[in-house]
Amino acid sequence: MRDIAELKVQAAEQAVTFIQSGMVVGLGTGSTAVHAVRAVGRLLQAGQLRHIVAIPTSEATAAEARSLQIPLVTFDTHPVIDITIDGADEADPNLDVIKGLGGALLREKIVAAVSRRFVIVADHSKRVTQLGSKAPVPVEVIPFAARPVGDYLQSLGARVEMRLDGADKRPFRTDENNIILDCYLGPIADPYQLAAAIRQQPGVVEHGLFLNMATDVIFATPDGLEHVTRL
Ligand code: A5P
Repeated sequence: MRDIAELKVQAAEQAVTFIQSGMVVGLGTGSTAVHAVRAVGRLLQAGQLRHIVAIPTSEATAAEARSLQIPLVTFDTHPVIDITIDGADEADPNLDVIKGLGGALLREKIVAAVSRRFVIVADHSKRVTQLGSKAPVPVEVIPFAARPVGDYLQSLGARVEMRLDGADKRPFRTDENNIILDCYLGPIADPYQLAAAIRQQPGVVEHGLFLNMATDVIFATPDGLEHVTRL
C-alpha cells in the first residue's frame, strides 16, 4: 500500500493541473495543500505557469509561498479567486467537508467563499460517509467567550476540548489570535442544521463545517486518484 505522504503529493499535484497561467490562486494550509503550493512554485520557476498571483490562507502558507517566490496579493486588488486548492480533515459523498485541524479554518473559509473553483485534496483516509465520524468540528472563538461558547457547544451534544499548543500546553492561538474549541460529535445527522446552530452563539467567529463550498474533491487512494466534481 502506498505511503500516505506520497498520496498527499499525488492529490495536490493533480489539482495543480487545473491552474492556468494568469489565474488568481488561493493557497491552502496543511500537510497536503503545501504540496500544491510547492508545485505552483516549481511550475512558475520553470516558466510552465506565468502571471500567477496568489492569496494564502495562513501566515504559514504565506511564508512558504514567499520562499518559493510566488507573488502574493490581497482581496483589495483581487477580490475574486479563480481556483483554491486546500486540504480537509474529512470529506463526505456530497463534497461537504470538515476543515481546521491545522487551525487555519477562518482564513480558509474566507478564501473558499470567494473562489470560483474550490478543490479539496486529500488522501483516502479523509473519506467518510458521514461528517464527524473521525474528526472533531473545530470552532474558532474569541478568547473572551471561551466559557459561554464551550457550554453552548456542549448543550448541542459535543464533547468540547480547547485546543492546546506547545510543551506548556497553552491555548492554541490562530492567525487572528482567537482560540479553537474542538467539538467531538460522532457522525453528524444534519451538518447544515448543526452549522446554523453553532452560529447562534455570540463569540463564535467561524466553524470548520465547509458545506456546499467545494466544487471538487480529489482523493488519492492506493489504487489511484478519484476525482469527484460538481462542475
Ligand atoms: C488547516 O486549517 C486545515 O483545514 C487543513 O486543510 C486540514 O486540516 C487538512 O490538513 P492536512 O492536509 O495536514 O491533513
